[in-house]
Parts: sequence; structure tokens; C-alpha cells
Amino acid sequence: MKITIIGTGYVGLVTGACLAELGNDVLCLDLDANKVAILNNGGIPIHEPGLDVIVAANRANGRLKFTTDVAASVAHGDIQFIAVGTPPDEDGSADLQYVLAAAKNIGKYMQGFKVVIDKSTVPVGTAEKVSKVIAAELSQRNAKECSFSVVSNPEFLKEGAAVEDFMRPDRIVIGSDNDAVGLHAKALVKQLYTPFNRNRERTYWMDVRSAEFTKYAANAMLATRISFMNELANLADCVGVDIEAVRHGIGSDPRIGHSFLYAGCGYGGSCFPKDVQALERTAREYDQDLLILRAVESVNDNQKQVLGKKIIARFGENLAGHHFALWGLAFKPNTDDMRAASSRVLLRELLSRGATISVHDPVAMDEARRVLALDFADQPEQLARITYVSNPMDATNKADALLIVTEWKAYRSPDFSQLKSQLKNPIIFDGRNLFDPQDMTDLGIEYHGIGRSVLTQAK
Ligand code: UDX
Repeated sequence: MKITIIGTGYVGLVTGACLAELGNDVLCLDLDANKVAILNNGGIPIHEPGLDVIVAANRANGRLKFTTDVAASVAHGDIQFIAVGTPPDEDGSADLQYVLAAAKNIGKYMQGFKVVIDKSTVPVGTAEKVSKVIAAELSQRNAKECSFSVVSNPEFLKEGAAVEDFMRPDRIVIGSDNDAVGLHAKALVKQLYTPFNRNRERTYWMDVRSAEFTKYAANAMLATRISFMNELANLADCVGVDIEAVRHGIGSDPRIGHSFLYAGCGYGGSCFPKDVQALERTAREYDQDLLILRAVESVNDNQKQVLGKKIIARFGENLAGHHFALWGLAFKPNTDDMRAASSRVLLRELLSRGATISVHDPVAMDEARRVLALDFADQPEQLARITYVSNPMDATNKADALLIVTEWKAYRSPDFSQLKSQLKNPIIFDGRNLFDPQDMTDLGIEYHGIGRSVLTQAK
């Protein structure tokens, strides 16, 4: 099938590359000429495992192309995916300007029939707004021969596993209308997703508004699980309970399940913080107050400060003269994404108190340099106290403690004897609960996890 993807960000690029891999003829549009040049020259603007291979293969076989030419992109696809960003407005609502600009271009240039798929995460009612914008353009052109239908097909891709998630989805949620154009669109979308439904039906058809809402509900539920566990972990620290044991204990109940119950130093990324806020914002528009979600957000804001608080409790308020090793800058492993990363909150806390910090991340160092330069634009003196090292062990040299913020595989089994000999004090603050507190005690390492103070309480 002929597909156009509008927006070559994270979602658009993964969607375009995977649909090309499945045999479709895909043209990706981006207005950022620089990004398109990178892609046309064989580069990839983001770090996503496996994506480079399928982009390269499908560029080579001609099924995946990139352009900045809006008219050509609209002409190309029978199906037009809108996969542009929906950044939060100042009030937390999703900013739809890029989505609606894409809709306007479709209306301006389209001929015949088009299926327009909202892939971006957008609030309930957005498909109707997209429809109105396209219809207004068509009526201005007096293009009576043109018709279209807007479909909602939210993505559930996890960064770091996006190709796998796209190729082997748990579910495909599709919201479509039941009028004549809606049914025509449904038939085309059904055909597009046929390869995913061979062994079992993975598509859930519903009305458009429910599909839009499903995306927010999924992310809000996952964020709620995390904040719930983080809240319990903080209590576990007070009462001498190991939250990891509790996680196993409750996760084995199939009604609860094991996933997304990991306590840590808070969730980040482009989706959870933004989507929780946007859902709260939608609720406010209808005079509803989502009490649980407000708490989820504030527990998470607090959780990003927990490591800093533990460090201050151990070393005091004034950290001048203290040096720390920090492992992990990205908001989670297997990505270079620094959006809403807990490392940024910790760095601000420690640097503002005078500490010096050596940092390491397997892939996010360039992105961290860019983002931290902006975070500390007004405090160049603080920024200068960050040192980037290319080997994690080098960061620990003469450090007062090792701080772990992201659970990269490379950090899971360090050479502890080397670590102990490098560190000034054998102390680990582990924001992702990578190690067993008993093992650490046996090794003579003072260990501060999240919700794992069972040993220290027992003493
Ligand atoms: C999320 C959703 O999982 C995905 O379906 C949606 O499409 C986009 O948002 P992503 O933001 O890539 O994906 O990351 P995810 O793996 O869900 O992790 C989000 C954050 O939660 C990370 O900061 C992670 O460290 C944190 N997390 C996750 C926890 O703190 N504990 C957990 O148990 C799981």
C-alpha cells in the first residue's frame, strides 16, 4: 500500500520504517530539512535499537523515502499518518498546532480519497478537529470530488523496544467512524494491519473518541502503578521492609501481574509526564478533578528528589568538596532520550549544593551535553562541575559515592572490588535497585536503595 508518514520523529520514523519493512511503499515527510538530509544520507537522528538496520534496508530497496515536499507527500499515500509532536502547552494540555498544520496541508493538496490516521497522542475530540480543518480546506478549494475519513490509531511503543513493539504488538487500537467513508477507511486500515493478525486477532476496533482516550488511559494506568510502588517504597524505607520482596509477593497475583511495579527514582520520558498532565487538563475542562492522577504526578515529582534527599541525609546540606560518580543519564536504558530524566533533577540538586560530579551514560552523553547546557544556561559555574567520562569505572575514581540513576545492563554487574578500591567511600545510592542489599553488606558496601532499608532497620 502507499503510505505517507507526516513527521519523522520517534513515532513517525519507527512507524514508517516498520511499514516499509512489511512491504509498503512509504514516503516520510518532515519540514526539518536537516533531519531529512540526515535520513537521506543514511543517518538516524535518534538512538533506537534495530531501527538503523531496517531504515537502511528499506532505503536501499526503495520502499522508504524521505522528503520535505509537502505536496508530493500528500499526493503519495492513500493513507496519511499524522505522527507529529504534541508537546505540552504551559497549562499541561497537548499543543495541537503541528497536528492541525498537517491536517491543513492534507486538505490543501489532496485528491480523491484519503484515510487520515492520527498516530500522535492527542486528546479526545482531536480527530473531529482534524476533520474540520481538512473539510475547511477542501471547501475553500471547492474540491467536491475529494473525500476522507479520520481514524485514531494510537501508538504503544516503548523507547528502546519500539521496533519490537511495532512488529509484535500486544494490541492495535483503531477508532473509526461508521459512516460510508469511515467504513471505506476501516477496510483499508484492516488491510494495512493484516500481517499482524495472522496468528490471532490483535486489532481492537472502537469509536474514534474511545481510541483516543485508550492511549491516555494506558499511560495513566502505568504511571499510577509506578507512583503507587514508589509511595510504598518510601514507607518501606521507614518501616524496614524490602519493596523488592513485596513486588514479587504482589506481582505473583495474576490480577496484579509483575510489570511496571519497579520502585525507583521516578518515571520520565516523553509520554508519562506529558500524558498524565494532558488527561488532568482534559478533566479540568469538564470540571472534573482527577484526584488519583494529580497524586501520581506529585508522587513522581517527589520521587525524582529522593536520591538527592538520601545523599544530603548522608553527607549534609553543603556538598562543596564532595565528588560523586553518576551512572545513567537517559530517562531509561536503551535510549538517548533525556526528556524529564531523573538525572537532571539530581544533578541540579547536587550541583547547587557545591558538589562536583563525573557522569557516564552508554549512549546519552551527547544529548546530555546539549540538554544540560540549556538546564544550566544561567549557572555556567555549576555546569562546569560536570565531567563526562567514557568509561563508567573512571567516574568512580576518588568519588564519595556512586549514584545510579538509569538501569543500563552495563551497570548491573560491575567489578565490585575495583569499584571499592576506586571509591573514596564504598557507598552506593542506587535509584533503580540493581543490587541485593545483603550482597552489598557482605561486600562491605554501604548501600542505599529505594525502599530497601530492611537491613539497616534490622541492625
Ligand atoms: C511509555 C509506554 O510504556 C508506551 O506504551 C507509550 O507508547 C509511551 O510511553 P516509554 O516512555 O518509552 O513508553 O518508557 P517506559 O518503558 O514505559 O518507561 C517510562 C518510565 O517509567 C521510565 O522512566 C522508567 O524508568 C519508569 N519505570 C518503568 C519505572 O520507574 N518503574 C517501572 O516499573 C517501569
